[in-house]
Amino acid sequence: MSPAPERRHAYRVFALLLALLAAGLVIRRAAVPKSFGKTGHYRAEAPQEIGARLPRHVGEATCARCHGKQTALHDKDAHARVPCEDCHGPGQAHARTPSTKLRVPKGKALCLACHQRLDARASFFPQIEPTEHFRKVGAKTTGAGPDCIRCHDPHEPLFMDRDLRTARLHPLVHRCRDCHVGSSRDASTPRPADHPAIFECGYCHKEIAAEHAQRSHKQVECTSCHLFFRESEFAGRIVRDADPRFCLLCHRKSELRGDKPPAIEWPQHRSDMDGKPDAVCADCHGDHIHHFARAGGKKDE
Ligand code: HEC
Ligand code: HEC
Ligand code: HEC
Ligand code: HEC
Ligand code: HEC
Ligand code: HEC
Ligand code: HEC
Ligand code: HEC
Ligand code: HEC
Repeated sequence: MSPAPERRHAYRVFALLLALLAAGLVIRRAAVPKSFGKTGHYRAEAPQEIGARLPRHVGEATCARCHGKQTALHDKDAHARVPCEDCHGPGQAHARTPSTKLRVPKGKALCLACHQRLDARASFFPQIEPTEHFRKVGAKTTGAGPDCIRCHDPHEPLFMDRDLRTARLHPLVHRCRDCHVGSSRDASTPRPADHPAIFECGYCHKEIAAEHAQRSHKQVECTSCHLFFRESEFAGRIVRDADPRFCLLCHRKSELRGDKPPAIEWPQHRSDMDGKPDAVCADCHGDHIHHFARAGGKKDE
């Protein structure tokens, strides 16, 4: 006969487990909030509590109460759809006590976070390769190149002389990258004769395109001056901008410029040329832009 099996060790284990279970139940009872499970798998007051918290982002309307100037510029120009707080960070604390400083971004990193050219970005979003961009607009490319806000105002990047929201609706302007994904092709790349038809400026604006080829701006693409803002699959807004500060993006004399394109001091240039105090570039240089002079694009021929 074999001896009775020794069971005492097993009783100890079960007693321990039982004690832990009891302790667990007691702790759970104390720890689970009263209203848990009443309305679902959460504390019933939680939604009210979260709802009562102040949002960290307060929105542009709040900023506008104290910063009317920046808001008005921002709303009429290319950045109208970029919320203030995307660049300045959450503004709740600042809006309550303005002495709590907000971020004032410096350098190129912020701009390039949205505008660096990437294959993964939709081709209709404006994006640049900094070195190439500086060369195109005549800035020196030594070192890291100038900061973007030396030329572009962050609140008014293109100095539009009329509100973008009322700019003319226009048929979609195709960029080469719309179809040639990941390529650096641009309008100057020669295309084969059997290339699928794409609408180009000259297709509809025949006269203007033909005479543009005779002007000193012939090497400047139409879309460098007439920036296009896509609104749908078929259409967008096209800019007709004659604000002097826009022209000065390429022509203002400063130490960040190379020798091309030619640079001028503004507004001295106007008085040097005996202009009326309200004369703008297009009044005197219509011939360098298109054959028609100023006044809402009226043709004078
Ligand atoms: C109640 C009025 C008020 C509201 C609302 C307000 N601000 Fe200000 N803001 C001020 C004042 C006043 C200053 C100047 C504070 C100073 O110089 O100490 C300022 C300064 C700033 C500065 C410059 C900070 C610096 O260090 O130079 C920025 C950027 C700014 N505000 C952005 C915003 C944004 C974005 C919002 C909306 C989220 C906003 N503000 C909402 C009153 C306000
Ligand atoms: C695209 C990014 C961007 C957006 C969007 C933006 N800001 Fe700014 N903001 C800047 C930068 C960059 C500066 C610093 C400018 C400088 O150093 O000259 C600045 C400066 C400021 C200043 C300091 C005073 C000044 O004008 O230089 C205030 C105030 C301000 N922003 C308010 C606003 C408000 C209000 C909005 C929304 C209506 C807004 N910003 C939207 C980038 C932005
Ligand atoms: C949070 C993203 C964001 C940041 C940061 C930002 N931008 Fe923009 N930018 C936009 C959007 C969105 C547009 C409008 C694009 C459109 O509707 O076609 C735009 C438009 C522009 C345009 C007009 C180009 C065109 O062809 O439409 C310029 C110039 C520009 N930004 C310069 C800057 C500069 C300079 C900075 C840094 C101070 C900056 N951006 C920071 C999002 C941003
Ligand atoms: C020397 C002045 C100058 C500097 C510095 C500058 N830009 Fe520009 N930028 C221009 C001019 C002029 C245009 C309009 C003509 C064009 O599209 O090339 C422009 C256009 C743009 C556009 C629209 C391009 C398109 O094809 O839709 C973007 C985006 C832009 N700039 C972003 C930037 C960013 C980001 C920086 C900083 C890394 C910067 N710019 C620095 C002068 C400048
Ligand atoms: C609506 C779409 C579309 C647009 C916009 C477009 N292309 Fe094309 N492209 C095509 C198609 C489709 C082909 C034929 C591809 C093939 O045969 O493999 C092609 C072929 C080409 C070719 C020859 C084949 C190759 O891959 O080398 C060149 C060069 C070219 N395109 C340049 C351009 C340039 C430059 C632009 C901008 C001005 C442009 N394309 C805009 C659709 C487009
Ligand atoms: C499919 C035809 C078509 C194509 C392609 C086209 N446009 Fe237009 N565009 C029009 C029409 C139509 C108008 C309105 C004409 C009018 O009012 O005389 C217009 C008006 C304009 C205006 C005036 C906007 C204003 O505020 O009055 C500009 C600037 C412009 N186009 C530039 C361009 C540029 C740059 C290109 C090439 C990238 C281009 N267009 C390609 C049809 C076209
Ligand atoms: C150097 C910048 C620049 C370039 C490059 C340029 N334009 Fe213009 N364009 C302007 C300006 C500025 C005006 C508006 C003049 C005014 O309002 O007095 C204008 C006006 C127009 C208009 C409106 C005409 C009207 O009757 O109201 C059209 C269309 C146009 N441009 C098409 C083009 C086309 C197509 C190209 C390329 C072949 C082109 N532009 C190249 C600066 C430019
Ligand atoms: C994208 C940059 C760019 C923009 C924006 C631009 N220009 Fe120009 N501009 C040039 C280039 C490049 C030349 C040709 C320089 C050359 O002949 O080598 C030029 C030439 C000129 C000339 C002739 C100088 C000469 O000696 O022949 C005048 C005047 C002029 N631009 C005025 C304007 C006016 C006015 C605007 C605004 C409506 C404007 N530019 C916008 C790049 C630009
Ligand atoms: C009162 C008339 C008048 C106004 C306004 C005016 N210019 Fe001029 N500009 C002239 C004359 C005259 C010349 C010399 C002859 C020429 O090249 O057409 C000139 C020359 C230039 C040159 C060539 C400089 C060189 O060294 O080769 C550029 C670039 C230029 N202007 C750009 C502009 C820009 C950009 C604006 C607006 C910010 C502007 N101008 C406003 C009359 C004017």
